[in-house]
Amino acid sequence: MTEYLLSQQGSPDLERSRLRLLQEFHDPLTICQLDAIGVDEGWRCLDVGAGGGSVTQMLSERVGSTGSVLAVDLDTSLLDALATDRIEVRRHDLLSEPLPQDAFDLVHARLLLMHLPSRLQVLRRLAGAARPGGWVAAIDPDFTTVALSPTNLSWERTWSVFCDTVLAGGWDPRYGARLCGELRAAGLVDVQADYVASLGAGGSPVLRLLSLTLERLRERMVAFGADSEEIDEARRLLEDPTNTITSPTTCVARARRATA
Ligand SMILES: C[S@@+](CC[C@H](N)C(=O)[O-])C[C@H]1O[C@@H](n2cnc3c(N)ncnc32)[C@H](O)[C@@H]1O
Repeated sequence: MTEYLLSQQGSPDLERSRLRLLQEFHDPLTICQLDAIGVDEGWRCLDVGAGGGSVTQMLSERVGSTGSVLAVDLDTSLLDALATDRIEVRRHDLLSEPLPQDAFDLVHARLLLMHLPSRLQVLRRLAGAARPGGWVAAIDPDFTTVALSPTNLSWERTWSVFCDTVLAGGWDPRYGARLCGELRAAGLVDVQADYVASLGAGGSPVLRLLSLTLERLRERMVAFGADSEEIDEARRLLEDPTNTITSPTTCVARARRATA
């Protein structure tokens, strides 16, 4: 089975808190994305890497009793309870298992592709799962915009090891900046995107999310040369409202499968 660095089994309570924060920050962006696409009654939707299931639920409300949502993930423990006559939940490894093709009005992937080593291949399969004229919606961050002002050495060292650690784990920490090009490379058309960034105080949901991500990766980061006390300090800086921090930039993108 594919290794996912942040699997729930690794640290269930911490990962569930992380997924809740992730949803708190990204759900408002997803609502705008689904509004822009016009997801409607009767649509057939696929939510891949559905995680805690907030988007699966949103989609199910929008498609109504005549539509359907298929939610897939390596780990369905937070999704199983959502299964209804319109939501189907499947345990599925996107790196090795096939998806239904030409089948969905919308294929949705949030904060998934950046984690996958063969992300362009997966994106091509997701594009093929959409019907001709159907939509692919994706959200991914660009972590390279993160900056503390004024900065300090503990922060710089910890952040540098964080980037090394995630790269070694197969992530692309700047995938958000590449997402639109990748959607085109996968053969999709009508690519549109919004980029969301902010400069603000520590302690915001997105910065607390980053702090919990550092905690989840602590052991790996220490193995890559990070100092555990400096990780504590970096987490404190991210959560301290007296600090000014540039957040990751989030790319909120949509594209269509060509009709011919
Ligand atoms: C960062 S979470 C995002 C969850 C959800 N999309 C959201 O935005 O709320 C990434 C999810 O992708 C799933 N995942 C990672 N690799 C996967 C794979 N190869 N196949 C299926 N799901 C995968 C993880 O289990 C996790 O639930």
